[in-house]
Amino acid sequence: MRLVHISDLHFGAVSPDLPAFLREAILKANPELLIVSGDLTQRGRAREFEEARVFLDSIAIPQLVVPGNHDVPRWWVVWERFRRPWRHFRRLVQEDLEPVWSRPGLFVMGTNSARTAGWHLDWSRGRLSHHQMARMVKLGQAVDEDSLRVLVVHHPPAAPPQGTRRHLIGRQREFSQSVNLAGVDLVLAGHFHISYAQTLRLSGGSAARNCVLSAVSTAISHRLKGEPNGFHVIEGDARKLSIQAWTWDGMAYKPGRLWRFQRGEGKRDWQEV
Ligand SMILES: [Fe+2]
Ligand SMILES: [Fe+2]
Repeated sequence: MRLVHISDLHFGAVSPDLPAFLREAILKANPELLIVSGDLTQRGRAREFEEARVFLDSIAIPQLVVPGNHDVPRWWVVWERFRRPWRHFRRLVQEDLEPVWSRPGLFVMGTNSARTAGWHLDWSRGRLSHHQMARMVKLGQAVDEDSLRVLVVHHPPAAPPQGTRRHLIGRQREFSQSVNLAGVDLVLAGHFHISYAQTLRLSGGSAARNCVLSAVSTAISHRLKGEPNGFHVIEGDARKLSIQAWTWDGMAYKPGRLWRFQRGEGKRDWQEV
């Protein structure tokens, strides 16, 4: 299995040369699936989605895309934001906001953690509804034991080692329990524009266990948060995973840090090795 995971493209705030280099790097990596974990645009405008569409169409590899908090109209476009928040995404990216992709041995489910508003001033915060979490559990439990189960969500459930002041995904406890019950092995996220991979402790009493969390920097945007542009290449199966960060060095995307994880016997408990 080989996946390429990119995120936070932010068309409308892109470093002009990078899309072509990123495309070339993805084609060279030749994954069976390209995963895009949200924030395709900067302001949720049709023109930006059109640019994202052209970019994605230029890569003839199966793709799984979920939205991010930047993919709805900005708050001052009140009517659009509340009445038809996903109009451009649905028309120009895909109708389904929570797509699923699978083949024997691999199951990937997308979720939409972006929200149009909340009881706080920071509308970039994300969460899943109870209904979305129930769906995740139902889908995950229907997958056969030997398949790697991957969850794609824009907002990360844990902070990077270097820390962040930004919010993690909301409803932490329920999210953690749902990921556990769904038997998820690997969570893929973006949003912080920081690259990291680590184990993620999932609550569940005596059934508590670790899955793997992998989050990526922005692939092509100049909205950097102290880290270079980059993406992750993920290889392995339901027993072992290797995650390699590829970073932009000013000339090319180059392979960098490598993390390895292994699953113990019995329950789906992952450790870094
Ligand atoms: Fe972003
Ligand atoms: Fe975001």
